[in-house]
Amino acid sequence: MVVDFDSSVAAVILLAAGAGTRMKSSTSKLLHILCGRSLLSWSLAAAEGVAPQKLVVVVGHEREQVEAHLDQIAPNVTRVVQEEQKGTGHAVSCAMEKLADATGEIVVTYGDVPLLTGETLRRLLAVHRQENNAVTVMTSIVDDPTGYGRILRTGGDVTGIVEHRDADATQIAIREINSGIYVFDAEILRAGLASLQPDNDQNQLYLTDVLGFARTQGKKVGAYIEADHWQTEGVNDRAQLATLAAEMNRRIIRHWMRQGVTVIDPSTTWVEAGVSMEPDVELWPGTILCGATSIAAGAVIGPDTRLTDVEVGPGAQILRSEAILSMIGAKATVGPFSYLRAGTQLGSKGKIGGFVETKNAIIGDGAKVPHLTYCGDAEIGDGTNVGAGTIFANYDGTNKHRTIVGKNAFVGSQSVLVAPVNIGDDAFVAAGSTLTGDVGEGELAVARGQQRNIPGWVETFRDRTRAKKAATINPTPIPPAVQEGDGPLEAGADTTPTSTEKE
Ligand code: UD1
Ligand code: CA
Repeated sequence: MVVDFDSSVAAVILLAAGAGTRMKSSTSKLLHILCGRSLLSWSLAAAEGVAPQKLVVVVGHEREQVEAHLDQIAPNVTRVVQEEQKGTGHAVSCAMEKLADATGEIVVTYGDVPLLTGETLRRLLAVHRQENNAVTVMTSIVDDPTGYGRILRTGGDVTGIVEHRDADATQIAIREINSGIYVFDAEILRAGLASLQPDNDQNQLYLTDVLGFARTQGKKVGAYIEADHWQTEGVNDRAQLATLAAEMNRRIIRHWMRQGVTVIDPSTTWVEAGVSMEPDVELWPGTILCGATSIAAGAVIGPDTRLTDVEVGPGAQILRSEAILSMIGAKATVGPFSYLRAGTQLGSKGKIGGFVETKNAIIGDGAKVPHLTYCGDAEIGDGTNVGAGTIFANYDGTNKHRTIVGKNAFVGSQSVLVAPVNIGDDAFVAAGSTLTGDVGEGELAVARGQQRNIPGWVETFRDRTRAKKAATINPTPIPPAVQEGDGPLEAGADTTPTSTEKE
């Protein structure tokens, strides 16, 4: 069916006052997250699909939480408080107090149907308009209708809805169920709500009784059967939350595969709703993409990698790592087993290798931090190489300080850079140095104990050891004694800075 018409309705009423007890949670059911968004947020997104002039959310249980959440995600919606939950009819009556002047179409939906889409609501509306109905209910035909209201029909026409607990033996067998999502003509809704009686098993006011009422008034009541049953399914407990989340994830991943993303194993890959990807991205098993993560063409992510609010450049590779609020440049590589915390920026063709933790670190183009390093509050210039095991000591116990390393510099392995410290362009730091002062452009800094070799020491002090025996059998020529304080240190002798990587 083609749905292209002005789909704006007078109002959407979204019911969200229920207790959600089966979640067994201190968090309101509506705030539970499914693929990166709350159930309420998904439901509101669908409601926006019919461009309501007014969107009314009925809150009740845990309303402080629900309202605080609404302040963040939809501050402009109208809220109505249903103090006591006296049934879906009562909830809609509360909402109608804010819609006294509304005429035309009023859509009713729930806050806990996350897979419902705006497009589906527009299809429901199209049927409502085409058939000139006073009420149109969205239904679904399911294998197990337990718990749902059943759609009653006579000669194909919808005559009413009976709740599971009120149904007789024949009605129980009906497999067409009420989704709880409807379009009403405002006038008949008002009259119907006024007529409701709590004459049912729960002594509640049932919105469903408005359908039977409309029929008694000679109005047309229709149904739109939604073939995709997932769209009408609500979340009542955590098992359903997981089932619906898996289905949503499947749909999101299918969308991205159709956009040209390779997903090696869709069942172990999770992609949240706010993620964007370009063609020829490749996702390996165990990849989890969260928040506003974006991945440019040709990037390869995973296996076993989680990215939250990360921007990945074209052709970059991230292997078995965790990254949060970071930017990875084009053709840069990360991992395996690294942890990129907020504020990490890796330049193009840069490298963050294995077992590296970064935070607030700007690492330049082609710069490398290849192995076993903590790099916090740092700036590393283009082309610089940071040796294995280097620690950027950014915290003095009270305050955090920055380390700035220039371009094409070389920090030897196992150095500790005690911030604040500046290392100039093209400078070298000898391996094993503990730097507490700056290093000028092109300088070599050596900040560690000088090596002393003591000839004959084993023979004198380690009598009866294997080493002594070996030394006695194979005596090595003893070099002229090196004395403490001898001569200036020479680069290229015992102080040559070393790094384990020089690509
Ligand atoms: C309702 C329908 C049933 C339908 C099913 C679909 C009625 C009488 N029954 O049954 O036909 O098959 O939904 O899921 O309408 N709510 C309020 N205030 C209330 C009562 C409910 O806001 O006083 C909200 C709940 O938070 C929930 C929704 O309305 O989001 C549905 O309420 P629930 O009690 O779950 O209705 P069901 O018994 O499932
Ligand atoms: Ca329900």
